[in-house]
Order: sequence, then structure tokens, then C-alpha cells
Amino acid sequence: MNFECQVLDLAAAAKLKTDALLVLVPEGVKLGSDAVSFVLSHALKAGDFSAKPGRLLPAYRVAGVAADRLVFVGVGEGLARQVRAGLRAALAQLQGNHLKKLGVVLAAPSASEAVVRSVVQTVADATYVFTTSKPKAEARSLKSLVLGLPEAPDALVRQAFERAVAVVSGVELAKEWGNRPGNMATPTLLGQAAQALASDSSKISCEVLTPREVAKLGMGSFMAVAQGSHEPLRFIVLKYQGAAKSEAPIVLVGKGITFDTGGISLKPGAEMDEMKFDMCGAASVLGTFRALADLQPKLNVVGLIAAAENMPDGKAIKPGDVVTSMSGQTIEILNTDAEGRLVLCDALTYAERFKPRAVVDIATLTGACVIALGAVRSGLYSTSDALAQALLSAGESAQDLAWRMPLDDDYAEGLKSNFADLANVAGRPGGSITAAKFLQRFATAFPWAHLDIAGTAWKSGAAKGASGRPVPLLVDYLLAEAALAPAKTKKAQKAQKKA
Ligand code: BES
Ligand code: MN
Ligand code: ZN
Repeated sequence: MNFECQVLDLAAAAKLKTDALLVLVPEGVKLGSDAVSFVLSHALKAGDFSAKPGRLLPAYRVAGVAADRLVFVGVGEGLARQVRAGLRAALAQLQGNHLKKLGVVLAAPSASEAVVRSVVQTVADATYVFTTSKPKAEARSLKSLVLGLPEAPDALVRQAFERAVAVVSGVELAKEWGNRPGNMATPTLLGQAAQALASDSSKISCEVLTPREVAKLGMGSFMAVAQGSHEPLRFIVLKYQGAAKSEAPIVLVGKGITFDTGGISLKPGAEMDEMKFDMCGAASVLGTFRALADLQPKLNVVGLIAAAENMPDGKAIKPGDVVTSMSGQTIEILNTDAEGRLVLCDALTYAERFKPRAVVDIATLTGACVIALGAVRSGLYSTSDALAQALLSAGESAQDLAWRMPLDDDYAEGLKSNFADLANVAGRPGGSITAAKFLQRFATAFPWAHLDIAGTAWKSGAAKGASGRPVPLLVDYLLAEAALAPAKTKKAQKAQKKA
């Protein structure tokens, strides 16, 4: 899909040759004497349309308007979320019209960064179609979006547009891998997807470790999860180098359970298919790297993906089994369905070797997080207030929200075990928090944050499908970090002091 940004007032927009022209109308709109303004002012005066959020007025073949379909979309105060809601409603109504070229213009004196992002990301999201396992599905018809801005965009608005386009390509890669069924998104295939990212960009390199190499590293916890499956595990190491080698990287760690049956602690059958989405953390790492390749920010990022399938089998781990993690800590696996933390803990230990300035893991970790926060905000845990703040603000600016959750040590009580250094589950209360407390035991060597995306990574029901979240949040976070003074490694800091 192609995105274009043009300077268009309503008079110019009327001449734009598109299949549909959506006019975003905020309260107190000032109108001219063009064909679009003419219709709009009459509709407003007659009370057949208002700028209230959610109001739509479609028109067809209006004299003086080049687009066949003209839709007025009320966007209230013109906030990003009002624009998103209005556009979604308008696009839903236009569905089935096989639009190839769409124009969206803002009937306001100027456009904010947030509104520009909202238009690009919403149109992409609303027109996305997954076809990999449904080749006869009608693919996305939309080929191009022209975003008309009332005045020449300043540098920030232009940048917001470019970012949004890159975020869309990252979100769509994350959706693609998230939506694939388990048999089309195995650990091996995820490894190949990562390698493809590296061959497409000179700034990205990729290494995919096999079971033998993972065994050598001593990742006993990760291996334990994979041992019940015929699909061999993969440990994926992606590197984006946009700054000097001496600069400490930010490490992203993705949970890549390509299917989660629960293992011997088998899940109930209803909706188990949705556990194909249990690699959405991994998919968000892939998507973020795709956006990095497009935007080329000046920072270093490492992406780690622990990919495995969680199956019940004669060889599978059993409740009560004790395994030794790469950190040396032993873990009593009381519930084989709490497998995400078992693969992530070894990836977190592996992250230490990069002497990172921060580590952020992303995981569809707990059903409890869905109960706590629903599908609106991802759960955010962090041992660093600065890191938590940076991620929360990135969520706000990217319209991909998170909410900070607590990490009080009292929550770790239930993880005590008589047979190992820790157990992999506590009781049901505070299940998302106790999962984070488990991970924290392996994240002591760096500032760390954990995003529980169990509620936000995909939608259930009729619109079942991956959301591509939290790629927008992660991209904004990384770009904000790149804009800060470069964080030096300890070694480089020492060398600098000596000089
Ligand atoms: N992948 C699931 C978490 C999940 C469940 C995400 C439902 C979205 C919807 C995870 O591996 C899991 O099974 N967690 C268990 C943990 C429990 C056994 C402590 C859960 O949430 O039930
Ligand atoms: Mn599970
Ligand atoms: Zn899982």
C-alpha cells in the first residue's frame, strides 16, 4: 500500500481523483466556497450532519467533486482517538466497495502529529486482510491513501507521517506472523522470517541458534518447554546496528510460543486455537525490526526470540519436574502451562552479555492480565521508573497504551518452592504480577521492563486477528531513545575518562 501526503484545502480536495474522499470535520469548522464546503455547510445548517464524534454523512457523485463517494466524518474536537473512531466507522460503511484509492482530508486549519499518525495507522489497520492461509480471500483492494493536509506540514508533522508509514509496515509484519496458524508459523519458520529481515537490510544481522547450541548455552528451562514437541526450538538473535559498536544496545525479548496447548497441564478445548497467537511477542520484535530498517535511527537494538511449541507428549515436562535455568537457578515446574516465563527467563539471562542499557520483554504471558486490563492497555512492569515512564509515554504518543503494574516483593511469596530455587507459578490471585515477579528474578543485571500483551496482541470473536501491538509503542520508545544523548557502555565510559 502506498501512502502520500499532500497539501490540500477543501477546494483542492474536491478536485482529487479518488474512489472515495473522507472529510474529517471537527466542531467549529470554517468553510470556503468550494463544492465540498457547499454541501457540508448545507448539511450542518439543516441539522442532517454535525461534527459530533461518530456522525457520518455519505454522499454520491456530488457536483464539483471528483471522487465518486464523499463521506463527511464527525471528529468532535479532532483528537487522535476521535479521528480513529470516525475513520473506522466510515471505512466499515465503505466496505465492499473495492476502493483502490482513498483520500482523507482534514477540514481544519492545521493537522497535529497525532492526527496524521492516527489517519495512516487507522486506514491501514481497517483495510488489512490476511490471505496466507486463505488464498481465495479478497485481498486488500486499497492501493493508495492520499492524506490531504490543510497547510504545508512542518518538520514534526512530516516526521510523524514517515514514522506512521514505517510503523504500519512493522505492524503488518507482526500481524502476518501472529495470524498464521501454528503449522505455518513454527519456530523454524520464525527463524527464517528473522533471517529474511537481515537479508533485506544492511543494518540488521541475524543468528538462529538450534537445539544443540541452546543446550551448550545451558538454557535448561527453555529446552524443557520445547522437549514435548516434534518441532525443534529456535533461539533467534537479531541485531540492528545504527550507532557505534561501543554504544550499549536496548534489548527486546519476545515470547515465541508458536502454539500453547498448556502441555501436560493441558488447556481446555474452547478457544484453544487462539493459542496460535502465543508468539505475538516474538512477532512484535520482528515488526519492530522491520520499522527500524525503514527509519534507520541512530541506536543499537538487539532482538531475542525464544521460539518453541508447548505440547503434551511422552517426552514432555511434567508438573513437579525441576529444571536448571541458564542463570543456574533451579525451577520447579508446577504448571506446564506457565511456559512463557520458562522460555523468557533464559533469554533474559542471555541478554546480560550485551551489557544493555535496557531490556524490554514482550509476552502474551497471562490470562490474568486480560482480566486486569482487558484489550485496551498492555500491562507494564519495570524495575526502573525512568524506563517505565519512557514506555508509558511512547504508548501515549503511539496511541498504543500501557498501564504500569506493581512489583512489590510480597507478590513473590507464592513462588517459593521446597524443591527448587523457585516455582514457576504462585496462586491465582495477581497472576500477571506473580509472573512478572518470576521474570524479575532473571532480570537483575540491567534496567528491565516487561509488557504483558495477553489482552492487546489479538482480537477474539468475529474480528479475530492479530493487532500488531505493541509495535507502535516499541518503535516510538526506540526513536525517543535514539534522540537522547548516546548511552555509552561502561568500557567506553572508562576509556573516555582516561582520555
Ligand atoms: N499463553 C498463556 C497466556 C494467555 C492465556 C494469554 C489466555 C491470552 C489468553 C500462558 O502461557 C498461560 O497459559 N498462562 C497461564 C498461567 C497460569 C498457569 C499460572 C494462565 O494465564 O492461565
Ligand atoms: Mn501457557
Ligand atoms: Zn503461553
